[in-house]
Amino acid sequence: MTRTLPATLDPSGSAAREIAELWWLLVGLGAVAFVVVAVGLGIGLLRRPADDGDVARPAAGRWLIGGGVVLPTVLIVVVLVATVASMRAVSSDPTDDAVRIEVTGHQWWWEVRYPDDGVVTANEVHIPAGRDVVLELRSADVIHSFWVPALAGKMDLLPERSNTLVIDADRPGRYEGVCAEFCGIQHANMQLVVVAHDEPGFAGWLDAQRQPAVEPTGELETRGEHVFVDRGCAGCHRVGGTDAAGDDGPDLTHVASRAAIAAGTLDNTLPNLREWILDPHAIKDGVLMPAVQLDPDELDALVAYVGALR
Ligand code: CUA
Repeated sequence: MTRTLPATLDPSGSAAREIAELWWLLVGLGAVAFVVVAVGLGIGLLRRPADDGDVARPAAGRWLIGGGVVLPTVLIVVVLVATVASMRAVSSDPTDDAVRIEVTGHQWWWEVRYPDDGVVTANEVHIPAGRDVVLELRSADVIHSFWVPALAGKMDLLPERSNTLVIDADRPGRYEGVCAEFCGIQHANMQLVVVAHDEPGFAGWLDAQRQPAVEPTGELETRGEHVFVDRGCAGCHRVGGTDAAGDDGPDLTHVASRAAIAAGTLDNTLPNLREWILDPHAIKDGVLMPAVQLDPDELDALVAYVGALR
């Protein structure tokens, strides 16, 4: 599908649709007001002055009252009523079958937890299409903002308290999102994607993510696992089912199943993974992940291991 509209005006979720409809109403009313004023101004400019001197004319008063009081009042009341109705609609309670997901913002990536299923991932929020999803949003450091324009409005992630955002997607698909609050040097490289599945697809995804990491196959990958644990990666990253249990960086148990690395900065390919591990700062300046000094064969093994964590 070729998109012709920005995602905000091509909504795929209830909240986004509500917001888009309100936007069109505002644009429509603004256009009406503009046309009325422009026509009135045009008439005023083109009309020849009457030759009755200073005699007050009742028509002028009607224009003043109509254009200066009645029209703005009607427009503002309509906008107020529509805005309050939209705000109520986008903050309505989720349905009983809603999925609960915890999303924590970090400089500069998204931690995504499914507390009812024991699943942890990063930078991808998988949801069932057609069902409400309750996102509990928090921050581990500074203020971030969760924004997937095709699905819903923005919501801040704060360090001190949690905010709730209810989203839903009409149909399966990938919906791109960003951090919408400036949060440091790599704010622009803090992207996420919401992947909406049909019900069997979502159940299958959860089931796959619940599994421990695949055992390394072959000598290279086995060596890579040792490099991962011995050379510091495991201090920050967790790989379920292994000794790697760090919790500062993204959970890597199923990292190879994700479409991108470094929060949308790079496609998840083996060459990109290699570049990233070799020198993360060259790709994402300021990132907390340090460059680890590795021999070329250690790097080969590490890339083979991480790249196989499906
Ligand atoms: Cu996080 Cu901007």
